[in-house]
Amino acid sequence: MNSFTFQNPTKLIFGKGQLEQLAAEVRQYGTKVLLVYGGGSIKRNGLYDKVIGILNEMGAQITELSGVEPNPRLSTVHKGVELCRSENIDLVLAVGGGSVIDCSKAIAVGAKYEGDVWDIITRKAAASGALPLGTVLTIAATGSEMNAGSVITNWETKEKLGWGSPYSFPKFSILDPEHTLSLPRDQTVYGMVDIMSHVLESYFHHVPNTPVQDGFCETILKTVIDTAPKLLQDLQSFEHRSTILYSGTMALNGVLSMGVRGDWATHNLEHAVSAVHDIPHGGGLAILFPNWMKYNLDAGVERFKQFAVNVFGVSTDGKTDRQAAEEGIEALRAFWTSIGAPSRLKDYDIDDSTIELMADKAMIYGDYGYFKKLNRDDTVAIYRMSL
Ligand code: NZQ
Ligand code: ZN
Repeated sequence: MNSFTFQNPTKLIFGKGQLEQLAAEVRQYGTKVLLVYGGGSIKRNGLYDKVIGILNEMGAQITELSGVEPNPRLSTVHKGVELCRSENIDLVLAVGGGSVIDCSKAIAVGAKYEGDVWDIITRKAAASGALPLGTVLTIAATGSEMNAGSVITNWETKEKLGWGSPYSFPKFSILDPEHTLSLPRDQTVYGMVDIMSHVLESYFHHVPNTPVQDGFCETILKTVIDTAPKLLQDLQSFEHRSTILYSGTMALNGVLSMGVRGDWATHNLEHAVSAVHDIPHGGGLAILFPNWMKYNLDAGVERFKQFAVNVFGVSTDGKTDRQAAEEGIEALRAFWTSIGAPSRLKDYDIDDSTIELMADKAMIYGDYGYFKKLNRDDTVAIYRMSL
């Protein structure tokens, strides 16, 4: 395996009733809180009232920023930065999903940067600090609750860009599976596809001798595959919500990428699709990932065979490695279809008219992908396979 340094400073607080720790966590950073949330799900499920109650009881001064969009917009980040400055905010508190948390990361970093935070997101400037950020997570998906990454969309330029900095880790994240019980079926599915995709991005690498990393990845994949149908039978199951919530955090908190360099091309392909068409991230991944696999099979048939055998239990009897590998890819597609994930861009009314534009967006930093470097022709080819 490769050499590595691992550091993750986020304090993870997990389990039923753990919101009771919120006041003690907030108090460490001050009393002026910017409460950031999305389009209203936390008002409908009662979490908003609970958080406001706790903050009021501890004497916090609350400023609110609501309406963070799925695929959060730069314009909303700007509003948050302004509020941090005008209200002299001590702590940014994100209550919601990956979009709310990602937006809050950009706000926290932007508040400590004199220029436009878009400079940092576009990698023209480096972050030099951040306001402290705490999160209360409401959806198992991105892992944003325990990583430094953030993805922000500039709707004017149709760019959706990932960025990160050592300053954008949350200080603490509270994960109570009960807060995810109200998640509708489609968002539950998108979240599980995203979780599996994060594992797959880490799993497809060429680094030799990584049995521990492989085992972690295969365990999380098999766990999600086993749990997903049970959860979809009973969306109110605390136990299954817990399993998926923990899987989501472990899939992208840096543990799986210790000692390896994952691929991450499919995420780049997907971000370009949702930059242009504003589709759910997990839906886009479900369409693209099996096609990325088919397109890149020859870059490492052995790895795909291992995936087929160890994750989906594909038998190798009487088959070439390639045939077994192909069966694994088909099994992934079939599994995602079985839980109701989309499989074609046309499921979102996307036709070939925007392929070139999406390819422009995907190529913004040049060729990409570490398992297999992809150029513009490859990008167009994978989008075409996905129509
Ligand atoms: O806005 P509200 O009303 O809260 O509704 C949200 C939203 O409509 C709803 N929701 C969330 N929790 C709920 C709930 N509805 C009912 N009950 C609950 N408990 O779900 C919808 C989707 O929420 P969102 O935050 O957008 O989902 P997700 O967590 O999947 O985040 C997606 C964003 O994260 C980025 C994606 O590209 C996308 O922009 N990513 C961030 C990453 C990171 N920071 O590490 C990595 C990922 O690969 C990903 O790219
Ligand atoms: Zn993702």
